[in-house]
Amino acid sequence: MADLLIRNARVVNEGREFDADLLVAHGRIEKIAASIDNAQARIELDADGRWLVPGMIDDQVHFREPGAAHKGSIASESRAAVAGGITSFMDMPNTHPPTLTLAALADKQRRAAATARANYGFHFGVSRDNLETIAALDPGAVAGIKVFMGASTGDMLVDDPQVLEKLFSCAPTILLAHCEHTPSILANQARWQQRHGTFIPPAAHPQIRDAQACYRSSMLAVELARRFGTRLHVLHLTTAGELALFEPGPVTGKRITAEVCLHHLLFDDSDYAALGHLIKCNPAIKSRADRDALRQALASDLIDVIGTDHAPHSLEEKQRDYLQAPSGLPLVQHALPAALELVSEGVMSLSQMVSKTSHAVADLFAIRERGYLREGYWADFAVVERLAQPLPASAQPILAHCGWTPFAQRSFRHAVRSTVVSGQLAWHQGQVIDSCQGLPLMFER
Ligand code: DOR
Repeated sequence: MADLLIRNARVVNEGREFDADLLVAHGRIEKIAASIDNAQARIELDADGRWLVPGMIDDQVHFREPGAAHKGSIASESRAAVAGGITSFMDMPNTHPPTLTLAALADKQRRAAATARANYGFHFGVSRDNLETIAALDPGAVAGIKVFMGASTGDMLVDDPQVLEKLFSCAPTILLAHCEHTPSILANQARWQQRHGTFIPPAAHPQIRDAQACYRSSMLAVELARRFGTRLHVLHLTTAGELALFEPGPVTGKRITAEVCLHHLLFDDSDYAALGHLIKCNPAIKSRADRDALRQALASDLIDVIGTDHAPHSLEEKQRDYLQAPSGLPLVQHALPAALELVSEGVMSLSQMVSKTSHAVADLFAIRERGYLREGYWADFAVVERLAQPLPASAQPILAHCGWTPFAQRSFRHAVRSTVVSGQLAWHQGQVIDSCQGLPLMFER
């Protein structure tokens, strides 16, 4: 008997939309066909014409484990992720301890193997002292190598030119860069401190972490990657200016790619007035013109993938003054509904959304047998419904451990009805199915 049969879905996959049934056995898609009549499955669901899309593969999350249980854990944040239609996540190395050694990496993998509700991969961190370990990494053993070329949460800044040159020349697999020029940020911050003391307003954040700081650092990363032939992925672009550094076109064949995050597409600097430090993040949310340029760059394939950069902090921490309030937003629970707002607004088509949240991510990281709805591939998908009335985000319990969302004042026109992770029901009609266990992502490099 098969595990799961979904009937009457409107499948959105690889640029096509069609009506189909989908049969899952042993974690994988066994069959996609107009009608599957002669199969029996332990669970049968009628999608009733709802969209069935490949689950989102989130290339950038901070799930805080180990070391910051008061902000989140792999268990709590992956539960929130499946509610948002995320079926796989790649976690960042700025944990405590940071993921700078093979032992720290193995520890995270062991934790995830016991508690991740979604499939998982881990990015390896960079410090000035671990370049030999990085050079010897097995490209298949890590999701990517993450370098903080700008300082952010954690103590992982690497901006010594010699260390960066060595890193870009020796990285054995894809290098992910957080790009902000820290000296200019510190100079901007000092000017604001002189004028305002500790009462720097939240709206100063994009002027302190400004467009120039982003451009300078992104330009350096791209220049180093070109010089050394490095496979570079620049994370969370936030400005119109940086877009000139990237090429349009499909991911396949590109040596330099870019990510944009949902909050940089959905908020702009007018939102600081109402949301304050709740939307303080690095790089900062910038102007409406920047937001609109990012939206256009998505549509023109200048930007390759959409991530969340889910980075939970407690509400108490967020209420501190500017210099003490940490940067980062919890986002995974609303990932697909938020991305679908961009579809409703005409920023991109549904097929483009599927590509940027799943197909292109699988291609970019060379993830084996995921990211597409194909017979023989792992069954990772979400059933999504268009709601008769927009649903306020505040109407649902918040699953992220921090207990708040930057979308509390917003409503979504779509909801995730079911999420299936490696063939297991992970989220259905408002409930996390805690028997679901994610699997490690495999990278074919
Ligand atoms: O806003 C951010 N928060 N940006 C980062 O780069 C790190 C993240 C975090 O870990 O809190």
